Amino acid sequence: MEIAKVRQDFPILFQTVNDEPLIYLDNAATTQKPKQVISAIENYYAHDNANVHRGVHTLSERATRQYEEARETVRAFINAASTKEVLFTRGTTTSLNWVAQGFGDQVVEAGDEIYVTALEHHSNLVPWQQLAKRKQARLVYLPL
Ligand SMILES: Cc1ncc(COP(=O)(O)O)c(C=O)c1O
Repeated sequence: MEIAKVRQDFPILFQTVNDEPLIYLDNAATTQKPKQVISAIENYYAHDNANVHRGVHTLSERATRQYEEARETVRAFINAASTKEVLFTRGTTTSLNWVAQGFGDQVVEAGDEIYVTALEHHSNLVPWQQLAKRKQARLVYLPL
């Protein structure tokens, strides 16, 4: 990967902070957007913005089509078998809660052990703590 070339796609990196070129590493919290994404979002709001899956008018159909095309793009990218495996959520916290409550509630039984590391972000700790409590399972902290 040519880092210098990739950086050109991110307008936000065209600035200095503390007299140094900006380097951004807080991607787990919020990722920066490349110009292609910024332009797609601007284009969407300027031309197609409408309710997805809840309308029969032209804009709603366009918005729904693009939403489902994005799901297919993601499916192909992660090599999933079906678009039904691709769910869009607000972020990591919501996603992990869904996994812990959906998958976790189905497979974890009393006495089971759930492994996390001692360095988890809250979003990957609280859902498992709650699952362990619900199921009388044991949360085990792997040392680093
Ligand atoms: C390291 C790390 N993991 C997970 C999260 C949670 O992400 P989200 O805001 O998508 O729930 C954050 C949010 O700041 C984070 O910094």
